[in-house]
Amino acid sequence: MRIKILTLFPKMLEGIVNESILKRAIDKKVCQVEFIDMRGYSLDKHHHVDDTPYGGGAGMVLACDVVDRAILANADAASYKILMTPQGRPYQQKIAKELSLKEELILICGHYEGFDERIRSYVDDEISIGDYVLTGGELAAAVICDSVIRLLDHAIKKESYEDDSFSNGLLEYPQYTRPAEYKGMTVPPVLVNGNHKLIKEYRLKESLRKTFLRRPELLKERNLTEEEVKLLKEIKEELK
Ligand code: ADE
Repeated sequence: MRIKILTLFPKMLEGIVNESILKRAIDKKVCQVEFIDMRGYSLDKHHHVDDTPYGGGAGMVLACDVVDRAILANADAASYKILMTPQGRPYQQKIAKELSLKEELILICGHYEGFDERIRSYVDDEISIGDYVLTGGELAAAVICDSVIRLLDHAIKKESYEDDSFSNGLLEYPQYTRPAEYKGMTVPPVLVNGNHKLIKEYRLKESLRKTFLRRPELLKERNLTEEEVKLLKEIKEELK
């Protein structure tokens, strides 16, 4: 996969892809990440990329011609172009999976107080990473890069993300490592005993318990299996 990030602040993102799993994935050629400075597509001799809003008001607006030229110079038929904006569709794990199947992503970071509405007509999708406003789309683009790259073949072991929170519609079960006891807090004995069938059942039950207690709305969106219904009934009894 190729990811191209159109930004006015490439340095904001460089550190993120140059560390840990993302760096390894890029080194292994699992994916390629390129930062494109949109300032290079300004025709203005001072490289201005924004202007005052028509109709008046505070702040500057990112100009549509600069973004259009940056997209035209970097996109082809295989590119899936996404605008980062708080008005976009709310980002979720299932969108990360959907994006991980694309050949090329172009992430367009808005900045300053806003962007020209016509930019919306150049893109295939608009994504928001949450109901809050960032100073620009760079952090949102970083979130997309991170969550998509880890799902690519050979970035990390498949088992490492198969049980992730949200990947099966539930929050992930609790995990422990050594020491078996720390400051009086112990590891559940079932995990130490090595019975894989019991461990599997324990994990499913605890996954359901966490989801029920923290994010009950996720259970409503999911078709529960017979076993899950039974375990959930037990959990509700235990909580009485
Ligand atoms: N740009 C500014 N805020 C944003 C958000 N919440 N999500 C995506 N892009 C943004």
